[in-house]
Amino acid sequence: MAETMKQIVLKSYARGNPRAEDFALQEVPIPVPGPREVLLKTLWLAVDPLFRFAIDEVRLSGATHLELGDVMVGATVSEVVASNHPDYAPGQIVEGRTGWREYAAVAPDQSDYRGPPRIIDPALAPVSTALGVLGMPGQTAHGGMIDVCKPKPGETVAISAAAGAVGSIAGQIGKILGARVVGIAGGPAKCRALLDLGFDAVADYKALDFAAQLQAAAPNGIDAYFDNTGGAITLEVFKNLNRGARMAMCGYIAYYGMGYEGPGPDHLPALYRTIMATGLSIQGFAGLMAGPNALEDIAGWIAEGKLTYPETVVEGLGAAPAAFASVFAGNAAVGKLLVRVAETS
Ligand SMILES: NC(=O)c1ccc[n+]([C@@H]2O[C@H](COP(=O)([O-])OP(=O)(O)OC[C@H]3O[C@@H](n4cnc5c(N)ncnc54)[C@H](OP(=O)(O)O)[C@@H]3O)[C@@H](O)[C@H]2O)c1
Repeated sequence: MAETMKQIVLKSYARGNPRAEDFALQEVPIPVPGPREVLLKTLWLAVDPLFRFAIDEVRLSGATHLELGDVMVGATVSEVVASNHPDYAPGQIVEGRTGWREYAAVAPDQSDYRGPPRIIDPALAPVSTALGVLGMPGQTAHGGMIDVCKPKPGETVAISAAAGAVGSIAGQIGKILGARVVGIAGGPAKCRALLDLGFDAVADYKALDFAAQLQAAAPNGIDAYFDNTGGAITLEVFKNLNRGARMAMCGYIAYYGMGYEGPGPDHLPALYRTIMATGLSIQGFAGLMAGPNALEDIAGWIAEGKLTYPETVVEGLGAAPAAFASVFAGNAAVGKLLVRVAETS
């Protein structure tokens, strides 16, 4: 085995949208696992917008915060290549949060609230799915759609960032529940991809006639809204909500990097007006809040051919910074965006 490995560290805190130049590639020795530690070789790295919070100079409550020079945080699927821990054996595949590096020495006994690395059964599905449909994004889509949006058959549910990892799964779950599903995404290619996934209608928020497209896509109004973005998209959705609407507040990517202050003007009056006039109920939630059966349900739907999981793959650890920046700057990725770091040994 080689003695050195590559890792990517934070070079400068992001201002506004993150840039590839905010990160630096380093060559360092491969760590040696200590007592009750395991050595993990990274196979797949998830590109998750969530970690924008970690590279803000301002420390946001509840968010991971990196110091300059720290290895970038990220969810990974890895192979156990050496183990000093009785629960793990070389050759096993695990999912964890080991960051943007080729190898990591991990102490399963000292893991945080997410628990020790999760052992994956490669016979069930491609192991990359542990970072997408059969992992945190899938759980998030399940919880937000089933527990918060609660669409009844025939109701209309709208989803922002619908072509992303969470939105693409949430929309298909909405279809399984019998709802009319409207996907909102940027550009004709992403909108076409949503129709291919079975969404009933789409609206391109980058088009000049977005408001008209949304109205046409939801002619009977919107009963539930799975919000991944906030911003101008959400203000337009508000105008189409029906009485008694539900909103799952899953993400607000349009405001990431703004700390607690937006650019103005103050849109809270529109929010207050909408909540009061429609009886809108809003619930924030995280993937970890999803019910215990979320991944079982999803695996069942995949096996029945009711749910597909698009993935977009970029090659090599060095591609991670540009892939991460592209999430905020506009990209062609549909479904889960992944970095393939290495093959199994
Ligand atoms: N609550 C939770 O537990 C939880 C868990 C996972 C994710 N999230 C959040 O859910 C959202 C979606 O996550 P994901 O994993 O599906 O992300 P993803 O696959 O990376 O997709 C994100 C998409 O958001 C769109 N976007 C980027 N900047 C935007 C902006 N300023 N305005 C409108 N759309 C923008 C882009 O699509 P277009 O090309 O269509 O613009 C981008 O591809 C994110 O906000 C994420 O932080 C929350």
